[in-house]
Amino acid sequence: MRIDILTVLPQLLESPFSASIMQRAQDKGHVEIHVHNIRDYSTNKHKNVDDYQYGGGAGMVMSIEPIAALIEKLKAERNYNEIIYMTPDGELFEQGMCNQLSLGQNLMILCGHYKGVDERIREHYITKEISIGSYVLSGGELAAAVVVDAVVRLIPGVLNDETSALTDSFQDNLLSPPVYTRPPEFKGMKVPDVLLSGDFAKIERWREDQALKRTKERRPDLLD
Ligand code: ADE
Repeated sequence: MRIDILTVLPQLLESPFSASIMQRAQDKGHVEIHVHNIRDYSTNKHKNVDDYQYGGGAGMVMSIEPIAALIEKLKAERNYNEIIYMTPDGELFEQGMCNQLSLGQNLMILCGHYKGVDERIREHYITKEISIGSYVLSGGELAAAVVVDAVVRLIPGVLNDETSALTDSFQDNLLSPPVYTRPPEFKGMKVPDVLLSGDFAKIERWREDQALKRTKERRPDLLD
């Protein structure tokens, strides 16, 4: 998979992809992540990427020209499965959307800033608008990093144990059951006996029961 991220703050996207699973996914060739600075496509002599909004009002708007130039350059090089705009008024990001995006070959992600982008960008170029939650971030970069992380870990081969993404919370609309590791007892707190029993059928049943119990308690909406 190839992911192109368009931003006015490329430095915000340096660390999220340079450690652990995201770094390994790139090293192993499962994903290429390219971060582009929108400012490099400004033809304005001050390299401006934003302007006052028509009709007045507080806050700047990201200009159409540099973003359109960058999107058109990338689109001329390859076909994109989706051209995504990160915005609090987009479709709410959840596991089903991650699964679907992970099947794509090329994704482009535009990060918004200030008051957002000129609406004509959204109308003419964007194929999908995503919100990572009902709150407003200072910009779309952290939201884009969330989407990339959640999608890339689903690409076959990225996780060491291929089954571990399948048993993630949400994959079957259930939260994950509790997990434990050594020691079997800490300050009087014991690991449930069943997990030490060696009876794998019983352990599997216990995990299913716990997953269901946890989902009922914390996210009953998932069971609807
Ligand atoms: N940009 C600012 N807030 C955002 C959010 N909640 N989701 C996606 N992009 C955003």
